[in-house]
Amino acid sequence: MSEHHHQPQYQHDGPPHDDDASDDFDPNDPEETQALHSCLLGYKFYRALTHQQITNTRRQNFHCLPTPHRETLCAPPLSLIQTFQNIDTCIRTNADFVEHILGTGCAAFGVDPAVLPDQLTLLPPALRGEVENAVDKVHSVLKQFVRDWSEEGKEERAPGYGRVLHALAKRWRVEERAEKRVLVPGAGLGRLALEVAEMGCRAEGNEWSYAMLVGSQFVLNCTQQQNQFTLHPFLRSFSLQRSRSAQLRPIPIPDILPSHLVTAHPSQWSNPYLSLLPAHLQAEAAALPPSPPPNLVPVTTEDRISMVSGDFLTCYRPSVAANSFDAIATNFFLDTAADPLAYIDVIWTSLKPGGVWINFGPLLWHFDGKGREGQGGVELTLEEVLYVTELRGFRITERESGVPSFYTSDRESMGRWAYQCEFWVAEKPM
Ligand SMILES: C[S@@+](CC[C@H](N)C(=O)[O-])C[C@H]1O[C@@H](n2cnc3c(N)ncnc32)[C@H](O)[C@@H]1O
Repeated sequence: MSEHHHQPQYQHDGPPHDDDASDDFDPNDPEETQALHSCLLGYKFYRALTHQQITNTRRQNFHCLPTPHRETLCAPPLSLIQTFQNIDTCIRTNADFVEHILGTGCAAFGVDPAVLPDQLTLLPPALRGEVENAVDKVHSVLKQFVRDWSEEGKEERAPGYGRVLHALAKRWRVEERAEKRVLVPGAGLGRLALEVAEMGCRAEGNEWSYAMLVGSQFVLNCTQQQNQFTLHPFLRSFSLQRSRSAQLRPIPIPDILPSHLVTAHPSQWSNPYLSLLPAHLQAEAAALPPSPPPNLVPVTTEDRISMVSGDFLTCYRPSVAANSFDAIATNFFLDTAADPLAYIDVIWTSLKPGGVWINFGPLLWHFDGKGREGQGGVELTLEEVLYVTELRGFRITERESGVPSFYTSDRESMGRWAYQCEFWVAEKPM
C-alpha cells in the first residue's frame, strides 16, 4: 500500500510529507485498488461464507453421524440443532456489524459498492480463494475489536498500552504534551493512538492493512454510543470451549466512545490501566506532579490524532520524516519487520534528538524464513535486537523482561498462547 494520510475524520488530505508525489495515494493504481477491493470483499461476503463454513458444513457432518448419536445430541439439554440455529443468529449479528464497516469503508475510501461482485457463487475460482482469505481477516478483525474496544479486552491491553502510557506520562508534564508528537506504527484498530491523544499528546497512528483501516475509521469516526454494537467474536472456534455460552458470549463494543475520549481534557487524564500494572509502576505514577488546572493547557481536538495509511518504511522514510517525532511507540509491531534493522533505522531517523522509542511485544517474526519481496529478511534474537538498537546509537534507559501478555486471545478458552514480552525505552541522544 502506498502512503495515504487520514485526519481523524479520514478525509483524503494527501500525505503529511509531500516531497515525493510518486508515493502519494492513488485510487487509480490498479494494485492499490485490488488490495482495497479484496479487503472489502471479505467484509461483503462475511455473512454468506461464515454461514457456509461454520454452520452448514457442521450440519452436514452432524447428519452423517449414526442415528442413536444424533438422537442423543438433538435431545435436551444438548439440543445441538438448536445450537446451530443459535450460532446462525450470532453470525447474523456479526454480519450486521461487519456490513456497517463495509458501508462506511466504501464511503471513506471512495469505492462505489456497486463495483463489488454480488454473489458468492458467481465469483471466478481464482477470486474465491482471495475472498476466503479476506473473510479470515475479518474474523481476526472481530477479535481485534475485543482487544482494542471492549471492557473484556482491558486486561489484555494493560501490559503493553499501560506501560507505554506510563512511560509518556513520566516523561512530559500535562502542560508540555500538546507540543509532543507521538507516532504509533502498526496502530491496528487505533486504541493506543487514541489513548496517547487523550493524555494530551499529538498522536499519529500508522497502519497498512485495509482490513484494519476500515475497522479503525469506523470505530473512531462512526460510533455514536458506548456499547452500541454486540459481537460474538469467538463463535468460530469449536475447540477448547468450556461451554456454548462461552463460545457464543456477546461482547459489547465500544467500551468507551472515541469521540468523547478525544474531547476529554488532558488535565483530567489518569492512566486507565494503572491498577493492572505492577506495584512499582503504580508507586511511580503516584509520585508524579499533580496536573495543572484545565485552563493552562491549550489543546484542540484536530491537532491530537491522525492516521496515516501505508507501509511504515515508506511513510516515514528519512527524506520525508526525519526528526519529526518526540516519541515512537511500537506495541506488538517490531516483529512485523522482514528486516528489523530497517525498522530501527526509520525509528531512529524519525525521532527528534532527545526523542524516545518505547517498545512492547514479543519477537514472533511475521516473515519468518520467507523475507519480503525486494527487501530480504532476517530473524534476530532479543539479544541481537538489543545489540543493533544500541549500535544504531540508542541508549536503553528502561527495560523489563518476560512480561506475560496475550494477543486477541479468548480468556474463557481451555488453552491460551501467552507471550513473555519485552518492554524497553530507548533514547536517541541529543
Ligand atoms: C500484531 S499487530 C499489532 C496491532 C496493535 N499495535 C496492537 O497492539 O493491537 C501489527 C500491526 O502492524 C501492522 N503492520 C505490519 N507491518 C506494517 C508496516 N510495514 N507498516 C504499517 N503497518 C504495518 C499490521 O497490519 C497490524 O495491524
